[in-house]
Amino acid sequence: MPPESAANSAITSVLREDRVFLPAPEFSQRAHIKSLDEYQELYRRSIESPETFWGEQAEKELVWFERWHSVLNWNPPLAQWFSGGRLNVSYNCLDRWLNTPYADKPAIVWEGEPWDQNKPAQQKTLTYRELHQEVCRFANVLLKLGIRPGDRVIIYLPMIPEAAIAMLACTRIGAVHSVVFGGFSAHSVADRIADSGARLVVTADGGFRRGAIVPLKKNVDDALELKDTRGALLARTVEKVVVVCRASNPIEMRDGRDLWWHEQMQSVPADCAATPMDSEAPLFILYTSGSTGKPKGILHTTAGYLLGSKLTTRLVFDLRDEDIYWCTADVGWVTGHSYVVYGPLANGATSFMYEGAPNYPEPDRFWSIIERHRVTILYTAPTAIRAFMKWGVEWPRKHDLASLRLLGTVGEPINPEAWMWYHEHIGGKRCPIVDTWWQTETGAIMITPLPGAIPTKPGSATLPFFGVVPEVVNDKGEVVPCNSGGKLVIRKPWPSMLRGLWGDPERYRQVYWSDVKDSYFTGDGCRQDEDGYFWIVGRIDDVLNVAGHRIGTAEVESAIVSHPKVAEAAVVGRPDDLKGQALVAFVTLKGAIKPDANLREELRQHVAKEIGPVARPDDIRFAEALPKTRSGKIMRRLLKQVAAGGEIKGDTTTLEDFTVLARLSQTDE
Ligand code: WTA
Repeated sequence: MPPESAANSAITSVLREDRVFLPAPEFSQRAHIKSLDEYQELYRRSIESPETFWGEQAEKELVWFERWHSVLNWNPPLAQWFSGGRLNVSYNCLDRWLNTPYADKPAIVWEGEPWDQNKPAQQKTLTYRELHQEVCRFANVLLKLGIRPGDRVIIYLPMIPEAAIAMLACTRIGAVHSVVFGGFSAHSVADRIADSGARLVVTADGGFRRGAIVPLKKNVDDALELKDTRGALLARTVEKVVVVCRASNPIEMRDGRDLWWHEQMQSVPADCAATPMDSEAPLFILYTSGSTGKPKGILHTTAGYLLGSKLTTRLVFDLRDEDIYWCTADVGWVTGHSYVVYGPLANGATSFMYEGAPNYPEPDRFWSIIERHRVTILYTAPTAIRAFMKWGVEWPRKHDLASLRLLGTVGEPINPEAWMWYHEHIGGKRCPIVDTWWQTETGAIMITPLPGAIPTKPGSATLPFFGVVPEVVNDKGEVVPCNSGGKLVIRKPWPSMLRGLWGDPERYRQVYWSDVKDSYFTGDGCRQDEDGYFWIVGRIDDVLNVAGHRIGTAEVESAIVSHPKVAEAAVVGRPDDLKGQALVAFVTLKGAIKPDANLREELRQHVAKEIGPVARPDDIRFAEALPKTRSGKIMRRLLKQVAAGGEIKGDTTTLEDFTVLARLSQTDE
């Protein structure tokens, strides 16, 4: 089915919501952007003269070692922002606060997951001064271990302050980090090492998650042993592994390769000059699933990314000096990069970090944290909100949430019911909600309300941020009429845009810039209403959004097919009340192998081992054959309907094997 009609049909299912929430006057008066008029005027300027607008922002927001000579060189689809400039990200997040009243302000406040009724939770606070020292120390450790500007470092850690320290230390010396989410498997770690050519891995003996220990170091050990199809080690570029002692979990340390973080940190000085980096120097690579093949290494560079994450953090969350700001994302995802680490610290904010699960030891952990730490801003995912709704309102009711003044969501469309629940039961009907749309590729928030200025409608991410030109178009790239579905594209370059895919410039062009002429294609379906508000429908490519996590169907399919008993697999999404989408895999088996419940479980575990528990299919359905078009393409539309339990509609005459349809709907044992 063409993506356009996919978007259309999905849109009709979005609940039409007439309710509009106006910013409260007392909020607007104190806000950075105080009215719709002010927003519109600034937005107009940012679009009409982007170079003037961004030049001014870069000057105001960032500390430069050397000024740039041109704001933008745009050679589509290649952008260079602030060419000729030199700066350092860790300097902008840390050093700039040292001789100011911010030096002794908490930069990171952290709480570990373990919980004992009789003991306070494990906590740590690092002021800007302390964080600076830790970052300098770890930067010196990296230098001592031979890491140089441009070298890649894999960070595979739980949500502990060391994750932010390691990221910032890389930026301090110009090394390029690639954070791998702790929920990914040894295979995924090995693939990312192999693709990035990383020389060093930072990990931990374990991390706590829902009372259990995630064996991160063990996964790294396994990753470093994995071989490719020719028998060569996959992750052969790694020379050193630095291990944080977090969980007192027994592990093996290999002589000459593995080093303890705390031992290394003792033997180095607490100052380290920040290396002046080119504006366009690679800052980090973050792997994310696409519609084909293995995850892509999204590349972000220094100045534009920092400017985007800094400005959006301040304006979207209307950040004030006294805020205790909590973004619940893991640093393994882009949200954790931009809105746990770089955006807040570049603003001198206090960023709260929590290690574990929202329902450990009970479903009120988040609310207990908010009460105890007086959190003022909460930024989380719709999936989490839907889980809270399911667990019941008695959990937040046990706690005083009066410190909250602003709420945010990200990662997937929020259904109006969840929006209203968040508004009423968490926000006490007084907190604005910012529903922020963006992607790993965009680096920073792109479509969002500004809380003092833009009226909100539950379920809509509302209007574009400054300098962002989104449009909803058809396959020819023409803007579709108001309230019709189409593809969401971005027409103009923006500072925090990805600069490419690591090691694959051609794929960058082809994936993002070939679908709609001269535009960046987001992969999302969308409609724009009569007020110009954007309503994101979700992915219209073969990428699924499961519990706010991006999962490519192709990646899961190849993981399933790598199982010796499997002949073919097709993975589709099924609507899920809690997770937004659930993963359903249709599988055909080799030869005479017969499906059974054990094999189903074995395949689910196989995917968890190949990719990580996040990608484990919710359902596996065996089929004798997969429905294909004459040209041999799997008919995913049909499979989606079967997966959703709906009737099979549409033209099926192109099926190569008609009988397969009937069988398919019945083969789920
Ligand atoms: C989806 C996460 C609706 C969208 C920051 C996008 C959203 C993908 C929203 C990117 C939102 C993110 N409303 N959908 N507010 N925010 N998405 O790269 O499909 O992990 O393309 O970045 O999440 O996921 P990613």
